[in-house]
Amino acid sequence: MKILILNGPNLNRLGRREPGIYGTGTMDDCLANLCAAYPDVEFAYAQSNCEGALIDRLQQAADDGTKGVVFNAGAYTHTSVALLDCIRSLDIPVVEVHLSNVHAREEFRHKSLISAACRGVIAGFGLDSYRLGVEALVKQ
Ligand code: DQA
Repeated sequence: MKILILNGPNLNRLGRREPGIYGTGTMDDCLANLCAAYPDVEFAYAQSNCEGALIDRLQQAADDGTKGVVFNAGAYTHTSVALLDCIRSLDIPVVEVHLSNVHAREEFRHKSLISAACRGVIAGFGLDSYRLGVEALVKQ
């Protein structure tokens, strides 16, 4: 079973980026933990700061046999109709994840444009949000 972990803008700086909000763990730590916890899952990982590249990667996942996507769209969560349309067009589940509890932060983060097209939403558990997203996909 193939699962794509996909990160949007600024998440390449995890571990150094606003550690008080996002923690000090890195995506390398997170992926190592996922591989250990789910030895039967084949993980792919991608990150981009560009909206179009995220759309291309989501479309590729839908076409290459990937079972589902754990997606942290970063700030595009709150702005991107293009990502909403893309996720709607896919026939594989996408789980929206956030490290922080976006509902406990600034008001502009309370609205997600992509949630309506996602299978579910997980927010507020730091890097463990990704594991919870994978768990949801594995149980599908
Ligand atoms: C985030 C929350 C977003 O509001 C923010 O723009 C991010 C990270 C999170 O994981 O908590 O880049 O998606």
